[in-house]
This record gives sequence, C-alpha cells and structure tokens, in this order.
Amino acid sequence: MRFWFIVPAAGVGRRMGGVLPKQYLKLGEQTIIEHTLYCLRNHPAISGVVLVISPTDQYWPQLHLPEYSVPLWVAEGGVERCHSVLNGLYKLQERAADDDWVLVHDAARPCLRADDIDKLINNLQTHAVGGLLGLPVADTIKQVDESGMITKTVDRCGLWRALTPQMFRLGLLREALNNALSVGYIVTDEASAMEFQGYRPMMIEGAADNIKMTHPNDLSLVKTFLQQQGRAI
Ligand code: CTP
Ligand code: MG
Repeated sequence: MRFWFIVPAAGVGRRMGGVLPKQYLKLGEQTIIEHTLYCLRNHPAISGVVLVISPTDQYWPQLHLPEYSVPLWVAEGGVERCHSVLNGLYKLQERAADDDWVLVHDAARPCLRADDIDKLINNLQTHAVGGLLGLPVADTIKQVDESGMITKTVDRCGLWRALTPQMFRLGLLREALNNALSVGYIVTDEASAMEFQGYRPMMIEGAADNIKMTHPNDLSLVKTFLQQQGRAI
C-alpha cells in the first residue's frame, strides 16, 4: 500500500493581501511552503509529493531547498483549488496506481504534525472510502441575513470544521472531482466531491494548531504554533 501527497499551492492569497502569495511569506529562514513541505518530505510512510504551483509562479524556482528523503514533482495549478488538485492527480498518475492513497494538504497549513499524518493513515488505510482531519465546532453558530440580523441559532452538535490532509484513493478521487466539475460544482475540499458521489468519508479529529493561514494575523499565530512544536524558526 502506498501513500502520496498532493499539495495545492497555486493560490494568490487574496484575503491575506500583499503582493507575495501567502505561501511565499517568510517565517524565520524559510517560507511557509517550505515549512509545510518539511513535515511531508521527512515522513517515512510517504512515497512522493506533488506540489501544484501556478503557471505564472516566479517564486518557487528561487527557493533553495535542502535534501529530503521523500521525492517531489511539480504540477501546474488551475483556476480554483479543485482544478489544481485534479492536475496534481493527473501528474501523480504517471507514478501511482488508482488504488494508492492520496493525501491532499493545503500549502497554507504549515503546522501539520507528523503524528496527525500517522493518525489519518492508521485510522483510514483499511477503510473503504477514506476521510479527513477535522475539528468539532466549539462556538455557538448563528445564521445571519444580508443586513446582519440573526435568523437562526444552528445546533452545533455534530458540526465539524474540515481541515487537511484529506485522504482518498487516487482513482475514486479523480472520478469524484471530474464528476463534480462536469456539473459546475466547484468543491472547496475533496470530501465534498466524494460526498457528491454518494460516499461517506470519515472524520478524524486533528490537532487544533493545524490552521490555514488566511488573514494577516494568522502569520504570528503560525509562528507561535511552530515554535510550540519545537520547529526551528
Ligand atoms: N490553491 C490552489 N489553486 C487555486 C487556489 C488555491 O492550489 N486555484 C491552494 C492555495 O495555494 C492554498 C490552498 O489551495 O494552499 C487553500 O486555498 P486558500 O487558503 O483559499 O488560498 P488562496 O486561494 O491562495 O487564498 P484566497 O482564497 O484568500 O485568495
Ligand atoms: Mg482561495
């Protein structure tokens, strides 16, 4: 049984603002994308990583990456995240089999822990469908209309936030993403595409520090979390 990573990194980071896409912001000596790859490319269970970057990306070729145990290939990004992931799957297909497991992980989540990768693999490798890391919602959830007025309090029982990695079989995920896109459904994660096919992915509780860097304030949070993990910053 083989496990591969696809890392979508072809976004522009609009909500983060600034000129530089957020995955190229520096934290210490390294960029965010390098912090993200650190965990995956040193993990003994992983056969290879496909990094998906924008066709207009000028930053990736300028990085000086150290040697890692896990090989990396680059694929071209698409208009939305789901197009980028699909391109990554096609690239991976040159080396991987349809029933190999693929873990899709956002480049913008540099605080992923090796033991969360282990947890996902250990819980799902014998599962028929696969699943993802997530966290139960802690706050009270409100539905609000366009004027800002609350229309409803949503029962948070059973509500989870979807994180990454999301782990599915290469062939089934490719089919699911293609089917969603063929009807114009732009899925924001892999599990949504699998659900659209009628599958029921498993939710596995992950670490709370696996945040997606989205807004400017997240950079200092990421720094704190990486320092707490003892990672060099
Ligand atoms: N991503 C991608 N291809 C796209 C859009 C996004 O590979 N066409 C990647 C991003 O680089 C990121 C991950 O998907 O690592 C999650 O997306 P998000 O956090 O939304 O990043 P951006 O799209 O870059 O940010 P924003 O939505 O604020 O522009
Ligand atoms: Mg986006």
